[in-house]
Amino acid sequence: MSLFKLPVALWAVICCLPALAHGVPTKWASLHCPSNSADGLPTPTYGSEQIVFTVCAELNISAPLIDVYNAILDFQAYPSWNTFVFAVDLPSNVTTTPTDSYAGMPMTFHTAGVLPFFNTTSNEVLTMLDSTNLDGYSLSAWRYDNSLGGLGMRAEHPNVLVDVGGGATRYLSFETYYMGIETALVLLLKGNLQTAFEKQAADLKAYVEGS
Ligand SMILES: *[C@@H]1O[C@H](CO)[C@@H](O)[C@H](O)[C@H]1NC(C)=O
Ligand SMILES: *[C@@H]1O[C@H](CO)[C@@H](O)[C@H](O)[C@H]1NC(C)=O
Ligand SMILES: *[C@@H]1O[C@H](CO)[C@@H](O)[C@H](O)[C@H]1NC(C)=O
Repeated sequence: MSLFKLPVALWAVICCLPALAHGVPTKWASLHCPSNSADGLPTPTYGSEQIVFTVCAELNISAPLIDVYNAILDFQAYPSWNTFVFAVDLPSNVTTTPTDSYAGMPMTFHTAGVLPFFNTTSNEVLTMLDSTNLDGYSLSAWRYDNSLGGLGMRAEHPNVLVDVGGGATRYLSFETYYMGIETALVLLLKGNLQTAFEKQAADLKAYVEGS
């Protein structure tokens, strides 16, 4: 090692080892859909370990970030625009979304397009509502809730919004599936889920830009 490289190496150790030891915090605003679905994206609840695959959609919406954020959390309006999650059951004390949406809120999603001849339902829990933060992005997320406490399947769906200027918002919507006993089953549905995510993103863009 040359004399020049030594201080650089020392600096790298001092600066970066603590970060590695504690897991590098996710830079949400700089995430993009991976070109290979096996290169999964991390989620707020489950992180980046034991990822099996990620389905992902990304596009720009010509609307302010807060309008897109509110549309994503306005679950009562999903029947009017979302062809993938065509209805959402909410707790009885939640009367107006997005205002009443809260972290920990249980929801039942009614979904089309996951299986060929049937509509499906899934229980979800809203895990994250962060409308704007100092780094100029917003993050909301919900995770699949299974009664086996995550043994059957762990999956989480983050929505990352970034103001890209010119009145436009970049929308990154993905779901990462983790190791579990139901994972082999879900792996068979990966293509359908990817198509559904792309459809949902296009639906949201049309809805927000048209309203
Ligand atoms: C969104 O817009 C930004 C800024 O114009 C551009 O750099 C980026 O490539 C666009 N992203 C997509 C997915 O179209
Ligand atoms: C609904 O109930 C949940 C759980 O008890 C509570 O956290 C939430 O704040 C309530 N929301 C409203 C709008 O009352
Ligand atoms: C799924 O639900 C939608 C919306 O209610 C309905 O139009 C459609 O016919 C259903 N599809 C199946 C296969 O049951």
